[in-house]
Amino acid sequence: MSTALIILAAGKGTRMESDLPKVMHELGGAPLFAHAWAHGRALDPERVVIVAGHGAELVEAAARDIDADVTVVVQEEQLGTAHAVAQARSALEGFDGDAVVLYGDTPFTAAETLERLAAARDQADVVVLGFDTENAGRYGRLVMDGDRLSRIVEFKDATDEERAISLCNSGVVAAKALTLFDLIDAVGNDNASGEYYLTDIVEVANTRGLSATAVSCAENETLGINNRAELVDAESLFQSNARASALENGVTLLAPETVFFSHDTVIGREAVVEPNVVFAPGVTVESGARIRAFSHLEGCHVSKGAIVGPYARLRPGAELANNAKIGNFVEIKNAQIGEGAKVNHLSYVGDASVGEAANLGAGTVTCNYDGVMKHHTHIGARAFIGSDTMLVAPVTVGDDAMTTTGAVITKDVPDGAMAVARAEQVNKPGLAIKFFARLRALKARKGK
Ligand code: UD1
Ligand code: MG
Repeated sequence: MSTALIILAAGKGTRMESDLPKVMHELGGAPLFAHAWAHGRALDPERVVIVAGHGAELVEAAARDIDADVTVVVQEEQLGTAHAVAQARSALEGFDGDAVVLYGDTPFTAAETLERLAAARDQADVVVLGFDTENAGRYGRLVMDGDRLSRIVEFKDATDEERAISLCNSGVVAAKALTLFDLIDAVGNDNASGEYYLTDIVEVANTRGLSATAVSCAENETLGINNRAELVDAESLFQSNARASALENGVTLLAPETVFFSHDTVIGREAVVEPNVVFAPGVTVESGARIRAFSHLEGCHVSKGAIVGPYARLRPGAELANNAKIGNFVEIKNAQIGEGAKVNHLSYVGDASVGEAANLGAGTVTCNYDGVMKHHTHIGARAFIGSDTMLVAPVTVGDDAMTTTGAVITKDVPDGAMAVARAEQVNKPGLAIKFFARLRALKARKGK
């Protein structure tokens, strides 16, 4: 059965006290709504429809960044969850598969849970994801009749007896898309909130002789985010999940609680991550690499056996080949560092390619920016760049070539050549002593 995801993301999120729409706040470096979507991918969706409202342009742009084929529809006024789902109707015109409704502000519903939900569609026309909790608070309650779900009652509309039910509605629903839209047509807004409740489709389904059931999941999978404190709690849950799965996958984390992951961080087996490392989005680290303490990585790739840090910064486009070494206070941006090449101390390498086994001395800087444009630097295989060399791009240093310490390289260096590009040293006998004597005398006169 083909599947469409409908992700509800129209709410403003008033309690975030933010100019950004709620679903654009980030968790693990990705906007909130991207998480529900990512888990929904387990269902191999043929279509994805995002229902945006507040800040729809921002949500649409972020959604297109993730997948250019996504459909974003706008719910102009937030009249309730059923009304929100109804906005997806025309986008799914002619779609004959199942629709699964997810909330953009609920990031932890696991892929396996969604698979169980989808599988339960064999037993019922409408399947709702529920969870048992001791703190049912203001959640909608699932009124069960054996395995059958009779109806969902919203907290505001519930009797005391119904409020005592501990099985709650997560909001996730699966049904054939055509059935879903049919049922929604029958939903009114005559309730305590004056909203069109998606939850009412269950009762409508039962009165029409269709069947409904519930599948349950752990409470923490249904955690929704409504304010910044909840976002912080969610980030901390996201991080602890990410740390646990890194450990399960055979990554060594010396102090897991000090390592921060993004939604898309990929780290190979037997890689070692020392304390206080941040993986911003877009990082892949291969097996056996070592990321030493206090390093920050973003949009980069680290190959087998490479060593990064301590105190290194890999920015987007940094690609380290096998066994490359990037040491302390080194920044690499948009640069390929060849196999076994070393950039060990206090350097900036940007918009560059570095050949295998090249050695860049302390304080090497690629001067890649002229104030208007960026230029490329190429350093050949086995080249030796002397400490404190300024490579004024665009420039090429050939294979097996060398630059002397303190060189300012403005012209290409041929293969095998040594480039000497610094003023010659002149020693003036006794001048230092005379110079300081003169300065001290000056200071003494001024002091009077
Ligand atoms: C909803 C459920 C409730 C469930 C709870 C779980 C209904 C009527 N109630 O209540 O049974 O226990 O979620 O968290 O469905 N949204 C839109 N457009 C709208 C309204 C909502 O896009 O017009 C989005 C919101 O941004 C949010 C989600 O739908 O992501 C849920 O809406 P919310 O107002 O939080 O519903 P609850 O009252 O929490
Ligand atoms: Mg809610």
